[in-house]
Amino acid sequence: MSWRSNRHVLWFYRHTYTALYELLISRLSAQRAHEAVIGSLRIMDRAPLLHRLSGTEVKALSPAQGIEAGGVSLSQALVLAAGLVKGDGFSSEDDALRAAESTRNIVPGWRIIPALLGPVEFGSFTRFPRMGNDGTVLWRRESSRSLQNRVGLKNPGARAAALFLGMRKELLPSELGINIAVSPGVQDIGQQEREVVESLEFFLDEGLLPAWFTLNLSCPNTEDDPLGHQLEAETRRLCGAFINCLAQRSLAIPLWVKISPGLSAEQYHALVRIFADVGVKAVVATNTLPEPSPEDPAQIAGLGGGGLFESTLDAVAHLREEIIRSNAAIDIVACGGILDGASFQAYRDLGVKAAQYWSALVYRGPLAAALIESELSAHEYEYEAAHSESLA
Ligand SMILES: Cc1cc2nc3c(=O)[nH]c(=O)nc-3n(C[C@H](O)[C@H](O)[C@H](O)COP(=O)(O)O)c2cc1C
Repeated sequence: MSWRSNRHVLWFYRHTYTALYELLISRLSAQRAHEAVIGSLRIMDRAPLLHRLSGTEVKALSPAQGIEAGGVSLSQALVLAAGLVKGDGFSSEDDALRAAESTRNIVPGWRIIPALLGPVEFGSFTRFPRMGNDGTVLWRRESSRSLQNRVGLKNPGARAAALFLGMRKELLPSELGINIAVSPGVQDIGQQEREVVESLEFFLDEGLLPAWFTLNLSCPNTEDDPLGHQLEAETRRLCGAFINCLAQRSLAIPLWVKISPGLSAEQYHALVRIFADVGVKAVVATNTLPEPSPEDPAQIAGLGGGGLFESTLDAVAHLREEIIRSNAAIDIVACGGILDGASFQAYRDLGVKAAQYWSALVYRGPLAAALIESELSAHEYEYEAAHSESLA
């Protein structure tokens, strides 16, 4: 079946998901809906038939073309961003390791999400496990199709995540990124460097060789200054240590680096120069935008989705300016408010080939990437038709 006939299927899906969203999802709090999704991922991870079916069926629905970006060949331009498949929180590494060795699924979605959605970034994983923040940590802003979160890097820690995923590595997809975050609250740069490298080594020692690694320098929902790790000297040191560790093992796995929105033009320019110097292949722009949380203005919660779009677009424009000016071999992976064909097109107009999305999964459902790609294709088709008419 051609993708044009699949447009009818996507049309039906779009209306069905919109109805489901209005009747059910929007009536649950964002947090409850998220917990329900994580619970169902645990169940779906155990259904191998579903994995095979979903992969084939979903791929057939999308008009996506393969692309090369950030040193990686991707079957489609849209990648699920870090933050969904990141695992349970633990208060100690011993507990996390015991759970990883037991029959418990400590990284819900590890199996079904790549099968259903294609390329995906797992994590963020920090050196040690984290419980994340207490209370309500996720909100929706429906009017701008935004999400706000202060999950606070809840995860099982790199050692337990690596152990768990290592035991299942034959079942992991090839289009996988692993996102490692700097440890919040650690001020000493030497310790930061050791922790980032140790985290990386846990995955490599388990024989986990993803298509790319992402170093997350930009989590706004922790006790840290979110911009602290994006200072020149620290960025150079952390990225350099990461790349050296891969080089010492003769591994050509590309490094992507995830950065914040809202930095100054000079800071984006400086980051591009550092990335080019040390050999970073792509910059993931951006993480969420720090804003006061809806429940307690004294707390910060990162804004993603429609409310982030303009800030990310601005960041991408500054990054691109410096990439062109310095002729750097770095791709930009846009991540901020990609919710439909038009928002993705705005990034493509700035030379972006690959992008990541999170909020679109909530507002447009599991076939979000196929919908966005189909809206792009429809746009291109209309453009071509109009263009050929004007030429005739
Ligand atoms: C609930 C939630 C958890 C997230 N956790 C992480 C994370 O652990 N690491 C990370 O790099 N980004 C994380 N993010 C940020 C997303 O990866 C993405 O950068 C952000 O949501 C912007 O994309 P969007 O506009 O498509 O939502 C998280 C986002 C949400 C909504």
